[in-house]
Amino acid sequence: RRPPRLVEQALCLNDFEPLAERKLPRAIFKYVAGHAEDGATHRRNLKSFAERSFIPNVLVDVSKTDAATRIFGVDYASPFGIAPMGFSRLVAPDCDVLFAQEAARARLPFILSGASLTRLEEVRQAGATSWFQAYIPGDETRILPLVERVERAGFDTLVVTVDTAVHGQHELAARHGFRSPVRPSADLAWQGVTRPVWLWRVLLRSLLTRNAPHFENMDAERGPPVFSRTLVRDIGLRSSLSWRHIERLRQRWKGRLVLKGVMSAPDARMAEKIGVDGVIVSNHGGRQIDCAQGSLDLLERIADQVDRLTVMFDGGVRRGSDVLKAVKLGAQLVFVGRPFLLAAAAGDRVGVEHAIALMKDEITRTMALLGINRLDEFEAIPLIRDGRG
Ligand code: FNR
Repeated sequence: RRPPRLVEQALCLNDFEPLAERKLPRAIFKYVAGHAEDGATHRRNLKSFAERSFIPNVLVDVSKTDAATRIFGVDYASPFGIAPMGFSRLVAPDCDVLFAQEAARARLPFILSGASLTRLEEVRQAGATSWFQAYIPGDETRILPLVERVERAGFDTLVVTVDTAVHGQHELAARHGFRSPVRPSADLAWQGVTRPVWLWRVLLRSLLTRNAPHFENMDAERGPPVFSRTLVRDIGLRSSLSWRHIERLRQRWKGRLVLKGVMSAPDARMAEKIGVDGVIVSNHGGRQIDCAQGSLDLLERIADQVDRLTVMFDGGVRRGSDVLKAVKLGAQLVFVGRPFLLAAAAGDRVGVEHAIALMKDEITRTMALLGINRLDEFEAIPLIRDGRG
């Protein structure tokens, strides 16, 4: 047996952050781990979990805990998945292919980002993910060809992100040299030189073996390169996106349609009314609006007010117990973002595999300690918010 690598010594998801920080150029690390503006929404996401706790039951036979769940007719091993994250190929080589393969192997969902720098067809062929997240422009002539391309590639669940009418302001990342489009600078070059392993494995090798990173999935055709000066204009036009476009999209797209970034019960009801299949209650992990409520605080209200809509969740999930708190408040599936990207940065495939195993174990261990064997037994376990009875 080979000795465990450093990344395998991580005991929980938060342990990947310092490991990733040592491997990544500062600008990229701050972009991944960071947030919009002052980080107020991100902190609220984390705090919403910390201020809630369960009342466990004891002396229940929990020798057969099983966290399995079923969403859109598909069985998953546990109620969590990997959230869509753009630019991942700048964090670890072939990161989205790796996510797709490891998630499939663990029987978990992974949503491929529309801002991925790897073509969606390539990820679809290499892995087994059938979830694609699109950034849709408010322009019919560009929506339809993109939908046709996603359909042709064989994806069956289209996730449209709706909380990005304009780009959030990532001041922390910008202060360390990260901008979109990427602008080469002496500081960035120096950061690359001080991380030679990253420079070779992630950047230079990918430039030598294939084309420069492009936003491949924004359009029917090849998208603009990450260095394009007209990037914002080319992939923009989202500020005019409205319910009208989603209604048309619903008529055109025959697969499952999910809206990601819904934070209000009226918006969730509207989605239900026009035939959307699911929503992800999310504030983009505090990377867009910085004066919003924690996403967990809105979950229960939304889940209570819809009937047929599948309610999913993301934002600030770092522990198996966080996943279970979101399930208790009405989420059928919970997505985790930053920790998986940081695990990929820290240890590529081994890092992601280890992060998935840690999360799966935490979930079943917490279920046993709560006194339940299956996710539908939560009724008997109260979840209390600090200061409220
Ligand atoms: C994201 N997120 C995101 N969401 C999306 O719909 N499309 C995207 O391309 C991206 N890109 C992206 C890049 C990076 C580096 C991060 C960290 C996040 C948001 C993501 O899907 C998810 O909503 C949050 O990451 C969830 O919060 P946590 O788990 O990171 O706290």
